[in-house]
Amino acid sequence: VTALIKKLFLAGKMVNVNSELPFDEASEIALEYNCIAEEEEKVDVIEELLKEDEEDEKDMVSRPPVVCVMGHVDHGKTSLLDAIRQTKVTSGEAGGITQAIGASVVDVNGQTITFLDTPGHEAFTAMRMRGAQSTDIAILVVAADDGVMPQTIEAINHAKAAGIEIIVAINKIDKESANIERVKQELTEYELIPEDWGGSTIFCPVSAHTKEGIDNLLEMILLTADVLELKANPNRKARGIVIEAELDKGRGPVATMLVQKGTLHVGDYIAVGASHGKVRAMTNSRGERVTEALPSTPVQIQGLNTVPDAGEIFMAVDNEKEARTISETYISQGKEKLLADTKQRMSLDDLYSQ
Ligand code: GTP
Ligand code: MG
Repeated sequence: VTALIKKLFLAGKMVNVNSELPFDEASEIALEYNCIAEEEEKVDVIEELLKEDEEDEKDMVSRPPVVCVMGHVDHGKTSLLDAIRQTKVTSGEAGGITQAIGASVVDVNGQTITFLDTPGHEAFTAMRMRGAQSTDIAILVVAADDGVMPQTIEAINHAKAAGIEIIVAINKIDKESANIERVKQELTEYELIPEDWGGSTIFCPVSAHTKEGIDNLLEMILLTADVLELKANPNRKARGIVIEAELDKGRGPVATMLVQKGTLHVGDYIAVGASHGKVRAMTNSRGERVTEALPSTPVQIQGLNTVPDAGEIFMAVDNEKEARTISETYISQGKEKLLADTKQRMSLDDLYSQ
């Protein structure tokens, strides 16, 4: 060290024992000592992760559509999903208000559709945005007796910003005060023009209560999905997005994640933003234990060391060390960088300035 410092000092460089030398300089000096320096490859972990990995077309197989249900508060999003799933989630909600994104998988004549239910209350803008960003199709629910409202417009903006297809479901047509034509008229202002008016947006009048029009809505979703030719490679390490996460008293951190690529298995090591861990247990949207989850499948997983943020990207990696390194790097490089892949890298400001 003293010899090197002296040498550099004589060459006009004030350095100390902690200084760093550029690679070129270091390799020149190394040569004087008959050594060949090799540059260590510096990998920016986050950049690596953000890279959309190239997929070979031949590995791609079709995957189910992921559909998010959006719209103004109380326009009947959860009721519509209840009608589709034949469940009664609405009646169990506190104050009848959805406060989190709920994921469910529905089988329609042998074809699968993954639904994300989003809250309509104005306080949940971030959830609506996340819903739109992780899906292929948005079902815009507009109550026929109420028409276009502030969060209807917000939902349209989220869907447009995320570049996803919008199918309009005019709900509550069973009500006497329902006015389907008025809703159609109001939506033309937002460039959602029905096909029978010369536009290209699919409008489905429905009633979550009488179930009128629901079959037609499902058919339209599958038709739209067909055109999109949605595909993913199931034979690779899983990658996807965190929909919701919380700390459970008994089970520790639990996260609902949507697998977007690859297959996630129990036993896989994963990195999720600042958290990491090994998938200890996995349950599907019906609460059943599963050992693997294919693309477009939402699953709840246990085994993370901390609760990840919703919207975070998760990825399966080779081993625990890699998972830990990624989360540590993530913490040190700042989370903003990962909180988004290209599609997700937009702020609300962008959204509203459009
Ligand atoms: P948030 O999640 O809080 O935004 O509400 P939501 O859009 O999920 O609405 P929800 O399904 O909770 O329904 C709101 C109210 O509208 C409930 O009282 C439902 O019973 C009622 N409702 C929903 N769909 C229909 C329908 O088709 N017809 C009639 N008459 N009422 C409906
Ligand atoms: Mg709801």
